[in-house]
Parts: sequence; structure tokens; C-alpha cells
Amino acid sequence: MLDIANILKEESLSREDLIALLSVKRKEDRDLVFQKAASVRCNNVGNEIYLRGLIEYSNICEKNCFYCGIRAGNKQVERYCLDEDDVICSARHAFENDYGSIVIQSGERTDQDFINKIDSLVRKIKIISEHKLGITLSCGDQSKETYHRWFESGAHRYLLRFETSDPDLYYKIHPNNKKHFLLNRLTSLQYLKETGYQVGSGMMIGLPGQNIENLIDDLLMLKVLNVDMVGMGPYIEHKDTPLFKEKSQLLTKNERLGLSLLTIAVLRILIPDINIAAATALDSLSDDGRLQAIRAGANVLMPNITPLKYRENYFLYENKPYLTEADALIRKINESGSLNGYHIKLGEWGDSKHFAKRVKGFGLD
Ligand code: 5AD
Ligand code: SF4
Repeated sequence: MLDIANILKEESLSREDLIALLSVKRKEDRDLVFQKAASVRCNNVGNEIYLRGLIEYSNICEKNCFYCGIRAGNKQVERYCLDEDDVICSARHAFENDYGSIVIQSGERTDQDFINKIDSLVRKIKIISEHKLGITLSCGDQSKETYHRWFESGAHRYLLRFETSDPDLYYKIHPNNKKHFLLNRLTSLQYLKETGYQVGSGMMIGLPGQNIENLIDDLLMLKVLNVDMVGMGPYIEHKDTPLFKEKSQLLTKNERLGLSLLTIAVLRILIPDINIAAATALDSLSDDGRLQAIRAGANVLMPNITPLKYRENYFLYENKPYLTEADALIRKINESGSLNGYHIKLGEWGDSKHFAKRVKGFGLD
């Protein structure tokens, strides 16, 4: 039998080691992995948890990912796009409450009007926050020119998940057409890096037909892509999507939660100095899913600050915790942190340490 304690002492982890870590079943072994991840986090990125106020700008999307509740083909959704005033008001809330940064997330649109609006919002948020609020964008695949324009206007981090690195699985969960090509995603990630962004990516965990080997490939893909940040979370079924018919193949919710937390811990051990977000989808599986993710090695929390009246329409998956108040979530993490040694750090961008090393050229490209 493989000895988890010995694997955790190794300087670098082989593929077999990673498989062993992600397959642990015994509680003692899981605890060893989590303890190691917590110590790796402390030694490499410290015990600060950084906030990004999440603004869900629009649920209008040109794409048709088979898993997503706001896919273009779902006619049950009431579509919205926030007014400028709503966005600025949310950003001001984040600024006045010392969040340090915000994320603007949106369904994907590539029309000029959308590109101009995001650009203008980024500029305005910079002005109202005296250039103090950090801005992350999560607005999908765009042209190199668009990424450049938004970066020049003041966005400095970009999140774009590849969802799964396995081409067969990728085309099981996306239409196989030009709009959805996996290669576009990978090219976009390269453009984002060349533009100068801190780049985040990630995958969904517990997809129908996904196995541990796929997840290891995803973790290794994150390493090869040399990302600065990771957002990855459990796949949660949504009844108005084509992937719902595969429901019977899924792990139970508890198993998906357990696997997601373990994947976070293994990623922390594999790439010690990146920022790892506690994904919102975790809270769909358990009331304290995000809190457990922080304990497992994540160091970024994204409280939802979208105006309440729009939240129920940004329904990517079932049981999305759209009513959780940002303040309540922050209180919960702070209370648990005082027992577990971490704390929320206000008023800072909380940039990825990995990015700082990458741009200084410490052997990372
Ligand atoms: N379950 C979990 N995550 C989902 N996302 C979209 N739909 C789902 C779902 N059903 C995630 C995708 C996307 C991010 C914005 O939301 O990973 O990149
Ligand atoms: Fe659109 Fe993103 Fe949902 Fe795909 S996952 S349908 S791109 S919002």
C-alpha cells in the first residue's frame, strides 16, 4: 500500500504520487493531505485570505455549454444586463468596505457594444476608487485586441477556465463547433499572458464521465499553462441543460464535495504560490463548502455583491447560493479563521505571488 505520509515528504510529485493523493479514502490520509496543504499555503502565500467582490454583470451569453444554466439555448431564463449605475454602486460598496478588488463576470458576448461597455466600466471603477480597487475580468473568449484594450483601461487579472483538459470529455460537455473550440480557450490564455494579465484558469470537478486520471491531467495542465490563479469547483447539474440527462452517472453531492476539497489541497501542494479561489459552487453542496475550501488550501474568497434583484437570474447550476450576504460570509470565514490560523486581509489586491515571480523571470515563462 502506498504510504501517503511518505509521498507528502517528497520534493516533487510524480503522476503516480498525484493519483495516490487524489485517491485517498481513509480519513487519516485525507487529514494528512489537508494538513500538508495548509502548511504549504502558510509557507508560500501566508495565512491571508483575499477578497474579490463578485459582480455578475450579465447573464446574456452567445455560447451553449451543455452544463450551464444560462446557455444561449435555455429559453427559461430571464436575461439581464446591469446598468452602469448598478455596477458602479456595487464597486463602490466593495471599495468602501475595503475589499481591495472586484471581479466582473459575465456571460460571453463579443459584440462591440459589450466590449465598449466593459471598457467604460473598468475605467469608471478605477476613477471612483481613486485607482485603488483591483479589477479582475471573467468575460470569456475575446480577441487579443479586446484583451489589450481592457488591460490598458485598468483590468489586471483575467479568469478563463478550460473546464477540462481532455478533448473527448470537453466535446461531451460543449458543442463541437468553432465558437466552442478548446483550442480557442488555450489560445486566449496565451494572449492574456502576453498582454500582461495575471491569468487564472481551472476546471470543473465531478463531471459525468470524468475520472481521477482526467483530474490529474487538469492539474498538470494548470502547471504547464503556468497560471497565476485557479478557480475550480464541483460540477452541479442544472435541469434545463442537455448534460442533465447524464445525472445518473454523477458522484453523490458528498463525494463531489470531498473530491473538490481534495483537488484543492493537491493543487496547493503541486503549485504552492498561486492564488486559489474557494468556488461559489461548493456552497451548493454544503452550507460551509467555501469555508471548507479555505481550510483545504484556498486563499481567495469571492463574495457576491451583485444587486440582489438580479441574482436569481445568474443561475449557472442548481442550488446556487444566490442569497448569501457577502457580509455574513466574511464573518463566517473570520470566525473560523481565528480557530484555524488564517484571516481575511482587507484593502489589498492580494496579487498572486506566482505572478510576481513569473514577471521577474525566475525561470518561469
Ligand atoms: N456547475 C458548476 N460550474 C458551472 N459553471 C457553469 N455551469 C456550471 C455548472 N453547471 C462554471 C464554469 C464557468 C464558470 C463561470 O461557471 O466552469 O467557467
Ligand atoms: Fe456562457 Fe460561460 Fe455558461 Fe458557457 S459557461 S454558456 S460561456 S456563461
